[in-house]
Amino acid sequence: MTQTPETHAVAGIIDGTAVAAKVREATKERAAEFTARHGRQPGLATLLVGDNPASATYVAGKHRAAAALGIATIDEKLPATATQAEVESVVAALVARDEADGVLVQMPLPDGLDPEPVILLVPPEKDVDGFHPTNVGAIATGLHGTASCTPAGVMTLLDHYEVELPGADVVVVGRSRTVGMPMALLLLQRNATVTVTHLLTKDLARATRQADVLVVAAGHPGLITRDMVKPGAVVIDIGITRTEDGLKGDVAFDEVAEVARLISPVPGGVGPMTIATLMSHTVALAWARAGK
Ligand SMILES: NC(=O)c1ccc[n+]([C@@H]2O[C@H](COP(=O)([O-])OP(=O)(O)OC[C@H]3O[C@@H](n4cnc5c(N)ncnc54)[C@H](O)[C@@H]3O)[C@@H](O)[C@H]2O)c1
Repeated sequence: MTQTPETHAVAGIIDGTAVAAKVREATKERAAEFTARHGRQPGLATLLVGDNPASATYVAGKHRAAAALGIATIDEKLPATATQAEVESVVAALVARDEADGVLVQMPLPDGLDPEPVILLVPPEKDVDGFHPTNVGAIATGLHGTASCTPAGVMTLLDHYEVELPGADVVVVGRSRTVGMPMALLLLQRNATVTVTHLLTKDLARATRQADVLVVAAGHPGLITRDMVKPGAVVIDIGITRTEDGLKGDVAFDEVAEVARLISPVPGGVGPMTIATLMSHTVALAWARAGK
């Protein structure tokens, strides 16, 4: 096949399902070692408030994954009508349980509930999602802390595929507190030259075209088209939007795969890494607490 200067054969496809399986395998071993040493399984407690179907599916998936890896779970649920005080009291009770090494409140909370005090109630040593400002600050300053699961999973993928980060021009699309911003911090810690873009960025394509590594977390299906990607770039698509045609990423996969060197699909890219990372964080927190 002849190649124009703009094309790059066909991109390699990042297999998040396979890398996640490796992470789960290692996590299962560490969980079994913990159980043998401490006489109890590592524990993950979750709280689901309301009946958002996507959130319910995510929480059920987390419980299934935990059970398969030898992680005990506590499954709390509250109706969408729960008050702020009720939510906070259940979170405080979960945090107080010694067997809960990680405590996760599924976000977003239903309208009318304020997530901020809830996030602050889960102390950094049980903050398996990496949302507590102390953990975010630790990541920002290069100290040891739990990073948000999705960006941490992306770092594992980039390392698995030996993507060179020091000095690389990396563009992150999206600056949310739980995805884009911690993603940028983790990449900066690895000495990438990081540009963060968002909804008010004046010329998104001008930025994305500079990227050796483009990481997209906007929640806007098909946002990134072929003309916005530098030939030979690595493209990581974090976006997940449920449509009538199934799950869609933020990247127009087929056309971008013609110019990228490596690209993550949706589904089967970043998604499986998020839950695998959550499991690995739970077991790491169990070991850290037991070591105290
Ligand atoms: N793969 C996973 O496991 C996983 C985990 C978490 C989130 N997600 C997905 O990642 C996406 C982002 O999630 P989030 O929680 O960060 O969302 P969010 O809505 O909180 O933030 C979106 C960010 O993208 C920016 N943005 C939105 N549209 C844009 C545009 N047209 N151009 C440039 N920037 C734009 C916004 O400014 C914002 O900073 C969603 O699709 C979400 O479902 C996937």
